[in-house]
Amino acid sequence: MNFIPVNTPLLDGNEEKYLLECIRTGWISSEGPFIKQFEEKFASYIGRKEGIAVSNGSGALDIAVQALKIGPGDEVIMPTFTIISPAQSVVRAGANPVLVDSDPVTWNMDVTKIESRITPKTKAILVVHIYGLPTDMDPVLELCKKYKLFLIEDAAEMHGQTYRGKKCGSFGDISTFKTYNNRRGGDDYGG
Ligand SMILES: Cc1ncc(COP(=O)(O)O)c(C=O)c1O
Repeated sequence: MNFIPVNTPLLDGNEEKYLLECIRTGWISSEGPFIKQFEEKFASYIGRKEGIAVSNGSGALDIAVQALKIGPGDEVIMPTFTIISPAQSVVRAGANPVLVDSDPVTWNMDVTKIESRITPKTKAILVVHIYGLPTDMDPVLELCKKYKLFLIEDAAEMHGQTYRGKKCGSFGDISTFKTYNNRRGGDDYGG
């Protein structure tokens, strides 16, 4: 059976050479010169001052939630339609996800429904852009300002995409990405 791949890897440069360099120098985990280069170049590409590489997108969300000191009793507003990772990070921190329904056309969070879900316990809005389509960020940014809420931006599906000319991943107090590992032929879902 043929599947349509979510993504096929683009391997047409120095990948093999760099992998061999890692193996030959012994830098196959934890640190090494490529990590720093990746952090700096990716952060600059997105338009951020700092970037930190971690093990995966779910771990990045855990770190974001905890770095913002979101904890027991706090509420975090997020979309109904996304992978489980954002909700898990909030629950793992002891806080409560508050779900906002999704727009039937873009499948992103329906931003017109956010304000009615804000309570005195709300600490953050966690935006997840879906399948390369940006969430409508202007209203979200206004609400964050008006209610003094943190913005966490999950841009795992948005590398290189923009909203009103600004790269997705550049809006959040903390923004997170993941790197897909789909293989050629794409007979896995690519998670
Ligand atoms: C929007 C979104 N957030 C977070 C994740 C989790 O990333 P990871 O699988 O690297 O933990 C994914 C994974 O597909 C995702 O699509």
